Amino acid sequence: MSNYHIKNLEEYFQVYRKSVRDPETFWEEIAEENFLWRKPWDRVLEHDLTQPAVRWFQGAQLNITENCIDRHLYARGSKTALLFEPNDPSEEPQHITYKQLHERVCKFANVLKEQGVKKGDRVCIYLPMIPELAIALLACARIGAIHSVVFAGFSSTALATRINDCDCSIVVTSDGGYRGAKTIDLKGIVDEALEHCKGVTTVLVVKRIHSEINMHKGRDIWLQPLLDEASSVCPAELMEAEDPLFILYTSGSTGKPKGMVHTTAGYMVYTAYTFKNVFQYREDDVYWCTADIGWITGHSYIVYGPLANGATTVLFEGVPSYPDWSRFWAVVEKHKVNQFYTAPTAIRALAKERLDFSENHDLSSLKILGTVGEPINEEAWHWYNDNIGKKQCPIVDTWWQTETGGIMISPIPYATPTIPTFATLPLPGIQPALMDEEGNTLHGNSVSGRLCIGFPWPAMARTIWGDHQRYKDTYFSTFKGYYFTGDGALRDTTGYYRITGRVDDVIIVSGHNLGTAPIEDAINEHPAVAESAIVGFPHEIKGNALYGFVILKETGEQRDPANLRKEINQIITEHIGPIAKLDKIQFTEGLPKTRSGKIMRRILRKIACGETDQLGDTSTLLNPEVVDAIIKDVL
Ligand code: PRX
Repeated sequence: MSNYHIKNLEEYFQVYRKSVRDPETFWEEIAEENFLWRKPWDRVLEHDLTQPAVRWFQGAQLNITENCIDRHLYARGSKTALLFEPNDPSEEPQHITYKQLHERVCKFANVLKEQGVKKGDRVCIYLPMIPELAIALLACARIGAIHSVVFAGFSSTALATRINDCDCSIVVTSDGGYRGAKTIDLKGIVDEALEHCKGVTTVLVVKRIHSEINMHKGRDIWLQPLLDEASSVCPAELMEAEDPLFILYTSGSTGKPKGMVHTTAGYMVYTAYTFKNVFQYREDDVYWCTADIGWITGHSYIVYGPLANGATTVLFEGVPSYPDWSRFWAVVEKHKVNQFYTAPTAIRALAKERLDFSENHDLSSLKILGTVGEPINEEAWHWYNDNIGKKQCPIVDTWWQTETGGIMISPIPYATPTIPTFATLPLPGIQPALMDEEGNTLHGNSVSGRLCIGFPWPAMARTIWGDHQRYKDTYFSTFKGYYFTGDGALRDTTGYYRITGRVDDVIIVSGHNLGTAPIEDAINEHPAVAESAIVGFPHEIKGNALYGFVILKETGEQRDPANLRKEINQIITEHIGPIAKLDKIQFTEGLPKTRSGKIMRRILRKIACGETDQLGDTSTLLNPEVVDAIIKDVL
């Protein structure tokens, strides 16, 4: 039996027990047997979750790109590493072999070096889903620079906040991006952002859409000519196990976005291990995750996890609806995809379309289907299982977070029997616990509570960039000695976990984490707005959509409501991005508040969900009369 690759349920339980009884030996064996180390560790784990201070493989030295690329060169040099499928189906796909990837990463790394980037420097990457995006990550990792990828759907304001938060002096972007029938002016967005980022001295620009763009003299440089000149030899920087590998921002319920810091060795070991087991990857498989590399799913399960296993990983530039809703299935057929990993929101959108979009394609290559990012409802699960998997493919409902770095709770195909809507069992090394609101651990089965993790795992984020106190306060202070996920969950009679959703003010819309506070801050900037509150309500495709209750200033009350709604969504788009737009905006005279002045979101949530008969006790409100007024005008 190998710890690294679990093949049946009995093995899972054996491995799981070992991982809990003796985590250090468990992870040490996996690390020793499956990776390339330049220097071994002195200690497998040092930890104190109250601080929190967690160090895995302390003393070890390595470079993650040697593990993701160099060590495959001998046996897999001519195997496709990245399989690029462009937005336009008539454009040729690119098969980038491990050998070619090595050369392109080394050249890119040398360009970064020539531009003065050194170990520990932060590099902001704002690119569409093109090969250069994956290559840019790896090029940073090659020389020990810390990448901070910003999803290319974020606005210039959101980009500027992220660039400034971690002091990037260099940005990698492109002249634009394709998204279905549209093009996105990424360089224009970068130009706007950089008006507020005085620290950025260099912008490297990839040519993708061949549009006319403004090149800022002395700052902006086309990437390709530099790559053409660069050497393809670039020795990998020796990294300490706990050196930061990347920063990735995620929304919190309050304040500015949190720059989650992931470090090198633990992240590598954990993403590789979970990729291998959750997707049961075999040597000749073609694996496709439809996420964007701008999110953690793309970092861990398009780039690092698959490449660390020598896999072929598809990088898809397009969208599921372009040129029509058959695109995913056309790509599966074309590249004979074996593992397919997507989000419930995409499945729900696809399920609403005609069945012949999938029926007209040969999906027989598929072996495993995955979902991630939000709870999957039963109907969507069955549609996926029946029409895409033809009841032959295990579905892995994988629960995890930007902060966890890798998949935490998930079935292991062919081992864990699946049940719709259940993420099922913790992966080896993961020790979940459910808590009640007072902080008591709920033992036994058939309980529900707040989902926590009671022991460190290798890929956990180590801190929030520049704000360790916030890291501690957000995740490690609610339940002493535990990592608090912010999610609620239930454990059923067999010990299976079902994630029930956020218990804080984060709302998951189409699988994207959106904090209410930053959206409210954006709306409140509108000159006609006095105050606002955002809550989520169920949406057929997006899972949740946003409902805004907005109090207008006197000047606003004279304005046309339809125009105001448009302007409010425009302001949100400018501050955050189109993903945070509100589906419903209700203008109201007041918001229900507690005597201490806090908005009672619980009541607004019920109203937005149409559950006005379940408002509970409103007598403690400062202004109970506004509740009736809001209900009267509900949209
Ligand atoms: O609420 C959970 C939900 O997504 C949150 C994490 O979002 P993010 O950091 O953007 O990472 C998404 C991709 C890993 C979680 O706190 N979530 C994620 N996966 C699931 C899920 N909820 C239910 N079931 C899942 N499989």
